[in-house]
Amino acid sequence: MNQSLNASIEVVIYAIGSCPVELKGGLGKHGRPSGRVRGLQRGGKMKIALAADHAGFALKEKIREYLKSKGLEVEDHGPSTTERVDYPDFAEKVAGEVAATQADYGVLVCGTGIGMMLAANKVPGIRAVAANDTISARMAREHNNANVLTLGGRMIDEASMHQIVDTWLSTPFAGGRHELRVEKIDAIDQRYHTEKRA
Ligand code: RB5
Repeated sequence: MNQSLNASIEVVIYAIGSCPVELKGGLGKHGRPSGRVRGLQRGGKMKIALAADHAGFALKEKIREYLKSKGLEVEDHGPSTTERVDYPDFAEKVAGEVAATQADYGVLVCGTGIGMMLAANKVPGIRAVAANDTISARMAREHNNANVLTLGGRMIDEASMHQIVDTWLSTPFAGGRHELRVEKIDAIDQRYHTEKRA
């Protein structure tokens, strides 16, 4: 198959039932997989890194069970009680997993989703979006190729969480004109982090 055509192949598989899971890959210049091959490194199962703070704990528990019921692999980074904790500690754990490609997506829950979003976005390569509605969830995936979903445990109920999570998981990145813009976001990360290290 033509290499450039092959490179642009975007495979969409259906992990289980009606939950579409994106496999974005293809071959790069040297015949190696380019970009992230979602779920493939782990036997085809999409993996989600999940965490919360005390304000997001109850919703986090429901999200874990919902994702598992869809056949997804979930790594719960805590907390395991409702004891008061600081959201940046948990945001960093999940963002680190996603940045290191140990998880395909992160899901973080605090009171509003905002604190988790701010903290997660400090990790290079992370594009975290507080999406407490389905439009934000869809646009964050379609235009911004967001890789961490943050939710407000004090803002949404379980039914809304189902809709938002379903929308997030079933919306592929649109690419095209959005590709360069997302690359420019990553370039800002690189400029600042490289300059600090130098
Ligand atoms: C905790 O009270 C609350 O500030 C936190 O969960 C989060 O909403 C911050 O953005």
